[in-house]
Amino acid sequence: MADVRKFPHHLIREIFEQPEALRRTIEPRVLLADGEIRLDEVRIAREELRSVRRINIVASGTSRHAGMTGQYMMQELAAVPVDVDYASEFEYRNPMIGRGELSIFITQSGETADTTAAQREAREKGSRTIAITNVEGSTIAREADGFIYTHAGPEISIASTKAFTAQMACLFLFALYLGEIKQKVSRALAQSYIGELLALLEKTETILAAADRVEKLAELYYRVDDFMFLGRAIHYPVAMDGALKLKEVSYIHAEGYPTGEAKHGPNALIDFRLPLVMIATCDRSDPGSVLRYEKNVSNMEGFKKQGATVIALASEGDAAIPQIADHTIFIPSAPELLSPILEIVPLQLFAYYVAAKRGLDVDRPRNLVKAVTLE
Ligand code: AGP
Repeated sequence: MADVRKFPHHLIREIFEQPEALRRTIEPRVLLADGEIRLDEVRIAREELRSVRRINIVASGTSRHAGMTGQYMMQELAAVPVDVDYASEFEYRNPMIGRGELSIFITQSGETADTTAAQREAREKGSRTIAITNVEGSTIAREADGFIYTHAGPEISIASTKAFTAQMACLFLFALYLGEIKQKVSRALAQSYIGELLALLEKTETILAAADRVEKLAELYYRVDDFMFLGRAIHYPVAMDGALKLKEVSYIHAEGYPTGEAKHGPNALIDFRLPLVMIATCDRSDPGSVLRYEKNVSNMEGFKKQGATVIALASEGDAAIPQIADHTIFIPSAPELLSPILEIVPLQLFAYYVAAKRGLDVDRPRNLVKAVTLE
């Protein structure tokens, strides 16, 4: 039961449990002094992982959005090509997978029918499989070669929040692990990333401590009918999940798009009636991130000229974005590959406060169930 004295709903309690969920998921698996990642549960020999040629990530809903961030993490840290599929579409594209490949199935419940069916198909084709799940002993974990448990604790609310950030943490740990095995990640780099992973716990607390600012924003926007969420590169899946959270709990129509894709059609919709949530954080130590940030700033200026209202997510200390956007939510700085874990938190809060102000059943949105056990 939700602690009704402190939190009126499971959803807001689970959002606030994220620092602890991340701590339980990350801490037992890292050794900062040695730069070592321990993933014994993966149960696939290091030699075999070293020769993996391609990775397929398969999942549904929010778990697929986590998988999309995993694609960026693994391609960057382990230099291995990664495909991401909707579990419900997997069988229809005649997945040409087999030996020498690894398939990763992500599911909070471990019982999503589309995802368990996709895992069976991958196994039949000879692929090795790893399940990332929050439920120990679930179907997906029992049938996989190996698994990585998200130790997020039971997630009761239908909207997935703490499981999502824990899934991204697991994907990052695996990307680093694989990068070390494939000798793409040096010990120094691993140590630095482990330090950054551990720092996420306090940074998440910092974001949650400012929840009242997000609540004020929700007060301004809870009557709006449509939203668009935009993000570039690894921030695109965050935009997708921000939109999914909002539509799922508040019944507001929301779309998530890659920022650069807006010009290819959706821009026709953008005017004062369609608020934009733009993820425009920047890792100043990474030239690629700075380039992407500059493109975001220029896009934001264009949208403002069209009359759009912009709610921006920017890195702490950014002086430019607040001059352009109507509202700015600041996110503590982090390496770009880890920033999705922070960025999603205010978007979850926004969805929660909007839904609560609309008087909806935030924990049990209509027509949805926690685990979709029918294909
Ligand atoms: C997320 O907020 C949703 N409730 C939904 O998209 C969910 O992530 C999806 O059904 C997959 O569930 P799973 O992670 O248990 O497989």
